[in-house]
Amino acid sequence: GAPVTADISELAEGQRLVLEWRGQPIWIVKRSKAMLDILPTLDPKLLDPKSNNLDQQPTYAHNELRSIKPEISVLVGLCTHLGCSPEMKAEIRPEPFDAEWKGGYFCPCHKSKFDMAGRVFAGVPAPINLLVPPHHYESDTSIVIG
Ligand code: FES
Repeated sequence: GAPVTADISELAEGQRLVLEWRGQPIWIVKRSKAMLDILPTLDPKLLDPKSNNLDQQPTYAHNELRSIKPEISVLVGLCTHLGCSPEMKAEIRPEPFDAEWKGGYFCPCHKSKFDMAGRVFAGVPAPINLLVPPHHYESDTSIVIG
């Protein structure tokens, strides 16, 4: 499929833009500083906190935040278990959903949980982190997927 371009100039903190690339949902999320600060604290609870399975993101997103720019996360919005669409739970702590929950993505099909970098928690069915699709910045406010 052809690359698609996303205009993120209107994307506010905590918001998600959804587009389609190669028949898959692509999520672009602008993370707040609070969301980013939580990520390193989650490492002990995650299956692959350093994203060492290199198939799950391009090399330029193989870092702590799994992104090119710290605040902007680009993910394929399909659960890596059986492909359901996870729900975004961006709130830092929406009690009583889960006392341990720090915000991220929740798959309703078999309860896999991911953080705001798409990293999968340990002990859920999803075997790897959410995928980061190939992408680059055409300008500060324009991302090309593909
Ligand atoms: Fe998401 Fe099974 S498809 S947990």
